[in-house]
Amino acid sequence: MKVFAAVLLLGAILPLASAVHPFFFSWRRGITADQSVKKIHSHNDYWRKTPLVDALRLGVQSVEADVWKVSETLYVGHDLHSLSESRTFDSLYVQPLLKYLDRTNKRSPLLPVGLQPAGLFDTNCSATLYLFVDIKTGPADTAKSIRRELAPLRRRGWLTTLREDGVLVPAPVTVVLTGNLPESDTLFTPSGARDMFFDADLAASDNSPYDARLTPFASCDLQSLVGEITQVDGLSAAQIKTVTDRVRHMHSYGVQTRVWGIPEWPITLRNNIWHQLYSAGNDFLCTDAIESAAEF
Ligand SMILES: *[C@@H]1O[C@H](CO)[C@@H](O)[C@H](O)[C@H]1NC(C)=O
Repeated sequence: MKVFAAVLLLGAILPLASAVHPFFFSWRRGITADQSVKKIHSHNDYWRKTPLVDALRLGVQSVEADVWKVSETLYVGHDLHSLSESRTFDSLYVQPLLKYLDRTNKRSPLLPVGLQPAGLFDTNCSATLYLFVDIKTGPADTAKSIRRELAPLRRRGWLTTLREDGVLVPAPVTVVLTGNLPESDTLFTPSGARDMFFDADLAASDNSPYDARLTPFASCDLQSLVGEITQVDGLSAAQIKTVTDRVRHMHSYGVQTRVWGIPEWPITLRNNIWHQLYSAGNDFLCTDAIESAAEF
């Protein structure tokens, strides 16, 4: 009888509580609820009010941090002058990722053992976040520090990993190194696995093969791909063909593409080029204006 009364009481309180506080019953604790996963790359992400988080809230699937190694610590910023002590790779990226993923993957007695960890996107928990790390200082040394600072994510199994047997194991975060790239063999752990991948050059006009397990992306700036843009309304037919051909080449190896350096103004020109790149098959739209891109 007591139990029955308690249930009745709960039945009365719960709807009230959820009406007062809509978050009371949000069992998914992510920050990306209702947002579809978007192939947008948040360029200069650390310039945003809240790096990483602003992008995740919009469902942006890729972010970029420029890292500088200064006396054993990795700082994030556009140039050396803009670095500050509180803006480290750890504080802006690693710790927030740990926080969100810890919340989303809280142990529940209902979860079967060995279930793949849930990612950062509520609408598709198997979608990975691409964390581009643009190396600005000495390549080998900086890559070593990145590896070390990623350790807490690695320990929890949250980094996409290429096992030594060649099998790629997807995880909530996929780290892609860009900028001053170190030699490939410095990226393997002693056991032969790796969880830091490379960004290939989309503009390299060769026909060489690519291994998408090592270079999940090929990127370049628009100008080095198509030359100068002279038309006021966007790319010429010949330029579009160049983009289409390069994208097709990469896609034939399962490599995704990302074009940056798109003019941000005038807006009509920018939007036309976004449309043209999208139609040409390019995967990720790279911009500082992620709000506009999310509504594109
Ligand atoms: C969710 O993400 C996975 C991994 O990227 C992808 O294969 C799948 O198609 C996505 N599902 C939907 C419904 O978009």
